[in-house]
Amino acid sequence: MSKLSVDHLLGVKFLKHDDINLIFDTADHFKKVINRPIKKVPSLRDITIANLFFENSTRTKLSFELAQKRLSADVINFSSGQSSLNKGETLIDTVNNILSMKVDMIVLRHPKAGAAKFLSNHVDAKIINAGDGAHEHPTQALLDSYSIREKFGEVKGKKVVIVGDILHSRVALSNIFALQTQGAEVMVCGPRTLIPKYIHKLGVKVESNLRNALEWCDVANMLRVQNERMDISYFPSTREYSLQYGITKDLLDSLNKEITIMHPGPINRGVEITSEVADSNQSIILNQVENGVAVRMAVIYLLASKI
Ligand code: CP
Repeated sequence: MSKLSVDHLLGVKFLKHDDINLIFDTADHFKKVINRPIKKVPSLRDITIANLFFENSTRTKLSFELAQKRLSADVINFSSGQSSLNKGETLIDTVNNILSMKVDMIVLRHPKAGAAKFLSNHVDAKIINAGDGAHEHPTQALLDSYSIREKFGEVKGKKVVIVGDILHSRVALSNIFALQTQGAEVMVCGPRTLIPKYIHKLGVKVESNLRNALEWCDVANMLRVQNERMDISYFPSTREYSLQYGITKDLLDSLNKEITIMHPGPINRGVEITSEVADSNQSIILNQVENGVAVRMAVIYLLASKI
């Protein structure tokens, strides 16, 4: 397989196992490129990409921009705060105006679930979903799986627990799809109030005791509590949450085995993860960030080949 089966990257839900393998094999090549003294290839000199971020971002925005520049694409950046959206322009009008400046691809982060899919139905450009509300964050899940593959050799057969605020997380849903497609076993762990009631229908195990979850898994992917998406309290206090669902060095050391710790970022040190764990040898958090550039280069390159 040399081409993706999809024309846009809207969600991991739409990817086949062969698509993921192709993205990872292509990312292997680009990872070598970005570790060379000259970290750039001329592959996309004729492509222009617009990064449209309607929500805050550090990692995803910079990682996409770097990936595009490493591929020699022309890049323009748009933040909603300084745009004419404040004057009443619609998303479709905004994007069509940008596309009329001869832009080929849109990377979209948006607070509303389904925004990337909606856009793909209404504009003539390749769309990459960089996170849509609490729905999907496909490149995050791809870089997470790529990092597991790098650490263990393969994703198949691995036991991965996703811990924390599953209810408000786009990272969780995309990871569930990505991991299951590759043959991993997936568990979610957190307070019952932060676990969607339908989640078992996705074929994941559900656990509310963190120690039990950690005893079961090879990898724990720790999620941040997304206070910005909450309009009510889902647990008594941050301290209470941290005591029940925060991972500490003492807890890790008390397990019968060594597990790998992941986190999509941003980290809330001392809440879901202590500094000792985040900065430990068991953590691959910064490897995830490094791999994000190679994986995003692969996604952009493969979609651009379909223009
Ligand atoms: N992991 C992630 O999406 O981080 P940002 O919100 O900083 O992009």
